[in-house]
Amino acid sequence: MSDHIYPNFPITRLRRLRKTPALRDMFRETHLTRNDFIFPLFVTTGENIKNEIGSMPNIFQLSVDNVLRECEELFSIGISAVLLFGIPDFKDERGSSGYTADGIVQKATHEIKRAFPEMLVITDVCLCEYTSHGHCGVIENEFVQNDETLRLLAEQALTHAQSGADIIAPSDMMDGRIGAIRRKLDENNFQDTPIMAYAAKYSSAFYGPFREAAESAPQFGDRKSYQMDYGNADEAMREIALDVQEGADVVMVKPALAYLDVIRRAKENFNLPIAAYNVSGEYSMIKAAAEKGWIDGERVMLETLTAIKRAGADVIITYFAKEAVRLIDNG
Ligand code: PBG
Repeated sequence: MSDHIYPNFPITRLRRLRKTPALRDMFRETHLTRNDFIFPLFVTTGENIKNEIGSMPNIFQLSVDNVLRECEELFSIGISAVLLFGIPDFKDERGSSGYTADGIVQKATHEIKRAFPEMLVITDVCLCEYTSHGHCGVIENEFVQNDETLRLLAEQALTHAQSGADIIAPSDMMDGRIGAIRRKLDENNFQDTPIMAYAAKYSSAFYGPFREAAESAPQFGDRKSYQMDYGNADEAMREIALDVQEGADVVMVKPALAYLDVIRRAKENFNLPIAAYNVSGEYSMIKAAAEKGWIDGERVMLETLTAIKRAGADVIITYFAKEAVRLIDNG
């Protein structure tokens, strides 16, 4: 933008185009639509289960039957993409409940695709929801072992694809996982299943409420040896570049709000769709402040989601999806 070529006040008056709602609507640069959103779902075993998550008002752990009811509602308001997280029956050292054919995400995927073939089912590939220690990979000497974890992640991704997943979304942050998963899918005739890589995923305190929702808090230490340091943005470009080279079809920046600069750089540097994850803590902060009457929750939500899109996100994963779509549809 070459601002300097504009004549000065009083010839230029930027307020002219802000004068009325009609003018403002016409010249608004960024619009939210229902196609922007992916709604996360926490799937648990059992029947007729609907547990509200204490730190995430209006977000629930759902059994598969209730997941289907939820999908029906989502469809009815025009949301056609979900991201599945599993809360399994049992956890072990290697997260084996995450890569069995009859695992909870595999089952939910199968059922959703049967009932709603047009619903886009995206599955989170990671071990932290399935391991007894809560880390995203296999542990040896208190350290997450990269290459051994890759084999299990690839196995998990394959079982998701076999259950009918439309998009595989690895969120573990091991080195080389996109390549490992791409090869595994290709060898098994899933060459057309896209990968949405959590490419620039930061080690973030904003995931707090999610870990309650997914029961996936690490039992010792933290995730800093695999998730990124929040001081780094150049490194995020290296992470994204590697994932693209390894075959990612969509790359994600996560969290979103404290990382709008990273979203913008990703958009400018990479010519493929950019996803942003408006994470649990970002949701809960707005909910909490709104509950206290300190902010107008709906307006802050729309401003936030618009900012994420304005920064460069092509799709937004958000717990606000339903509320946002209802407001957008009502003008
Ligand atoms: C699993 C995973 C996490 C989130 C998405 N996938 C948690 C984590 O890495 O600890 C966080 C999502 C959110 O906070 O909404 N690795």
